[in-house]
Amino acid sequence: MAEINLDKIYASFLLALEESHDSESLSDLQKEYLGKNSVISEERKNISNLSDLDKKKFGKTIKDISEKINRDIENKKIAIKRDTYENKENSENVDISIDWLENTGTKEHVISSVMSEVAQIFSSIGYTVAHGPEAETSWHNFDALNTPVWHPARYESDTLYIDKKLDNLLRTQTSTVQVRHMQENKPPIYIVSPGRVYRSDQLDSTHSPVFHQIEGLAVDDAITFTDLKGTLEFFVKEFFGSNVKTKFIPHFFPFTEPSAEVLVSWKDGDWLEILGCGMVDPNVFENVGFKKGTQGFAFGVGVERLAMLRHNIDHIKNFYDNDLRFLRQF
Ligand code: DAH
Repeated sequence: MAEINLDKIYASFLLALEESHDSESLSDLQKEYLGKNSVISEERKNISNLSDLDKKKFGKTIKDISEKINRDIENKKIAIKRDTYENKENSENVDISIDWLENTGTKEHVISSVMSEVAQIFSSIGYTVAHGPEAETSWHNFDALNTPVWHPARYESDTLYIDKKLDNLLRTQTSTVQVRHMQENKPPIYIVSPGRVYRSDQLDSTHSPVFHQIEGLAVDDAITFTDLKGTLEFFVKEFFGSNVKTKFIPHFFPFTEPSAEVLVSWKDGDWLEILGCGMVDPNVFENVGFKKGTQGFAFGVGVERLAMLRHNIDHIKNFYDNDLRFLRQF
């Protein structure tokens, strides 16, 4: 009989617990169910009227139920605290791009995967990958590439110098790797060099102060402009598809002669520029100590440009915002 009463008490406690949402109502509840004048205390007083056997049994039941009530109240206190912090966090730090639970695993960034793909295309025809530093000397970035101090192209270039004497800079082009590689190696040379370059450019839809290029250099016996055309046409068709046409139009670069820009035919009939190229200027070969009469070609591709064309991306900043909703698409 008495035990049934205790079950009822516990059931009514649970209902009241559900309705308690702060620490004040929890301590009221504790007083009501376990305090001096509580029903449980009343029940405890009745123990003395019971037989020895019942005393033991009923005493234990009362002890168990009191412990249960205490434990339930403690757990509820912890839950209330956790909810309070969680609510606070959510209202102060709204992050709509991070979805921790769903976001498992890793993925290559679209810029990295375009660079790997281009390197892969060239490695299929015998090129290897070379690298150079991003903090460079002005000599490697300009002088060695036939752009001496007095050359107008040097001042037109939006360079980020890193010392007052203008001897060192953040490289403005991956062409620096041509120079470094030729200083260390003899022909035949067939390299591509993907990497980051820096210019003091304002951010707009197609320009960013930090972007990526892939440089190419081939130096071998009797290399001609025809080899350059054939190689770049192969690359364009591998990357964009075999129905894309290429057009070479004359251009000026200090380190190549003749120089050209390569345009590709686009969906709406437009021609879009994707890279610069040319036959390496004899002065560049002389600067790295190669013998007179050496022949070779070079090219430089804008990686963001390739990715924007392939995926129809309209603003360069998308690549650097690190919005997972954008990055997950590729
Ligand atoms: N370095 C040039 C630039 O950043 C791109 C370039 C043009 C690279 C012609 C070359 C080249 O190797 O031959 O605009």
